[in-house]
Amino acid sequence: MISAKAIAARIETLAKEIQTAFKGTEKLVVVGLLRGSFVFIADLVRELDLPVEVDFLEASSYGSGMESSREVRILKDLRGEIQGRDVLVVEDIVDTGHTLHHVVNLLRSKGPRRLETIALLDKPTRREVDVKATWTGFEIPDKFVVGYGIDYAQRNRNLPYIGAVRFT
Ligand code: IMP
Ligand code: MG
Repeated sequence: MISAKAIAARIETLAKEIQTAFKGTEKLVVVGLLRGSFVFIADLVRELDLPVEVDFLEASSYGSGMESSREVRILKDLRGEIQGRDVLVVEDIVDTGHTLHHVVNLLRSKGPRRLETIALLDKPTRREVDVKATWTGFEIPDKFVVGYGIDYAQRNRNLPYIGAVRFT
């Protein structure tokens, strides 16, 4: 669906925009949401010419029958402090929006100076909560995708490109 080359080119552009937005920052805490964002965050921070700290957060959502009433739980919290800091949350895909919505609320409650979000992929037609990342790599249709860190039952994270899964 999206080639490694297209991803790299898009990240270069996004990194320039992020650099402009956070110009002069004392330190930017880049928070990757595990596990899906690990490849994206690795490529993104290497394009950022800013003082950067990298941290990770793991959230997991549990269906309770109805997707729209999903509960998001924090499985691994941040190691560092973000109070008074500039923060960039890095997500792989914004799908229903529950995860990003919950994580942003949680991190905002810790009093960052500024908090922005970036998602590599966005499936706007799937949205159940009104949330949008500050920056988005690519908008995609409602297809299940893998690769570039993103899995299907923990497989295919190592593909260098984004592919759509064909369910036959
Ligand atoms: P949301 O809370 O529904 O926005 O869920 C977002 C999370 O669901 C992402 O961080 C992914 O981990 C997972 N997800 C959503 N769509 C896909 C997909 O197409 N492939 C793999 N994981 C997905
Ligand atoms: Mg995820």
